[in-house]
Amino acid sequence: MKILVTGGLGFIGSHTVVALLEKGYDVCIIDNLSNSSIDVLEGIAKITQKIPQFFNFDLRNQEKVEAFFKEHHDLAGVIHFAASKAVGESVENPLLYYENNNNALVYMLKNISQLNQKNFIFSSSCTVYGEADTLPITEGAAIKKAESPYGNTKQIGEDIIRDTCNAVSDLKAISLRYFNPIGAHSSTEIGELPIGTPQNLVPYITQTAIGQRDELSIFGDDYPTEDGTCIRDYIHVVDLAEAHVVALERLLQSEKKASYEVFNLGTGKGSSVKEVVSAFEKVSGQELNHTIAPRRPGDVVAAYADTEKAQDVLGWQTKLTLEDALESAWKWQLKLKEADA
Ligand code: NAD
Ligand code: UD1
Repeated sequence: MKILVTGGLGFIGSHTVVALLEKGYDVCIIDNLSNSSIDVLEGIAKITQKIPQFFNFDLRNQEKVEAFFKEHHDLAGVIHFAASKAVGESVENPLLYYENNNNALVYMLKNISQLNQKNFIFSSSCTVYGEADTLPITEGAAIKKAESPYGNTKQIGEDIIRDTCNAVSDLKAISLRYFNPIGAHSSTEIGELPIGTPQNLVPYITQTAIGQRDELSIFGDDYPTEDGTCIRDYIHVVDLAEAHVVALERLLQSEKKASYEVFNLGTGKGSSVKEVVSAFEKVSGQELNHTIAPRRPGDVVAAYADTEKAQDVLGWQTKLTLEDALESAWKWQLKLKEADA
C-alpha cells in the first residue's frame, strides 16, 4: 500500500515516514525543502534500508498537485504535514501562512477525488484550544479565537476538512492535534533542524547546552502554576509518528463511507519550563545557563492533553517519557555538532 506524505522530510514527517516504512508501507514524499534538507532522505534510508520516492515541488502549485494525483490514483492514503509553522513569522507575513497552510490544503482536497481510496490525515495543533477553560484538554473543549495567523490556519484547515467530508461521500479524514513534539530518532539519523534562532523551548535548550546560545530565557516565572513557569505537554516525536500509523490504519479499516474525526496527541502529563530544564540537566549531565525573562506575548499558562479518546478509539498511547525525549534531543544536538566540525 502506497502512502503519500507531504512535508515528509520535515521534523514530524520524517519520523512518520520511518514508522510507515518499518510497518511495510510504500511511501512517497512531496516536499519543497523550504524548511528541510535533502540529507534527511539519506537519514531515513540509513534507518530503514529503504528509499522512499521523493518529489520536490511546491504544493501551492495547483497544476502540479493535480498532475501528481492523476499519476498516483492508486494511493491508499495521504498524510499532510507540509505547512509553515513559525508563529512569529505568521504575524509578520500572514498571507504566506494562509496561502501555504490553507490554499495548498484546498488543492490537495480538490484532487483527492482522483484517488480510489480517499483517506486523509491532517497535522493540527493544540494551539486551536488557546487558553483552555479546563485541564486536561479534551477534544470537546471550545475552540478559542486564534492567537496568531498560524493558529488560525489550523482552525480554518480543520473547518475546510470537516466541510469537505460532509460534501464528498467517500472522503474519510482525521485531524490530529499535536501538543508539544520534541526529541529525535534514537539512531540520531533524523531529528529537528530549526532554521535560525529556535523559537521552541527544547531546541533552544540543546543549542544553549552545546554553546551555540549564551543562555536560555525562561519566559515568565510569575504564572499561576506551582513554580511560576508555563506548563506544556511534551510528546516524543517517535510516539507521535507511531500515532499517525495507527490513525491511518483506522481509516484503512473503516467500513464507513465517509467520516471526520479529531484526536489529541499528547502524553496527558504537563511539565513546567523549570521541570524541563531540570530534567534536561539530569539526562545530559550539563548545567544549563538560564535566566528569568518577561512573559512571551501569546503564551498560554497551561496546556496538556486529555488522552482518553486516543486511547479508547485509536488504542494508542505514548510509551516514551520526557527524559527519553530530552536525551534523544541532546544526542541529536551532539551529532549535529560532530557533523559540523
Ligand atoms: P517542518 O517545518 O519540520 O516540516 C514541514 C515540511 O513541509 C518541511 O520539510 C517543508 O520543507 C515542507 N513544506 C512546507 N511548505 C511546503 C509546500 N508548500 N510544498 C511542499 N512542501 C512544503 O514542520 P514539523 O514540525 O514537522 O510540522 C509538521 C506539521 O505539524 C505542520 O503542519 C505543523 O504546522 C504541524 N505541527 C507542528 C508542531 C511542532 O511543534 N513541530 C506542533 C503542532 C502542529
Ligand atoms: C508554540 C506555539 C504554538 C505551536 C507550538 C508547536 C507560540 C505562542 N505558540 O507553542 O502555536 O503550535 O509552539 O510548534 O509560539 N519557552 C521559554 N524560553 C524559550 C522558548 C520557550 O521559556 O526560549 C517557554 C514558553 O514560554 C512556553 C514553553 O517554553 O511556556 C514551550 O514553548 P514552545 O516550545 O515555544 O511551545 P509553545 O509555546 O507551547
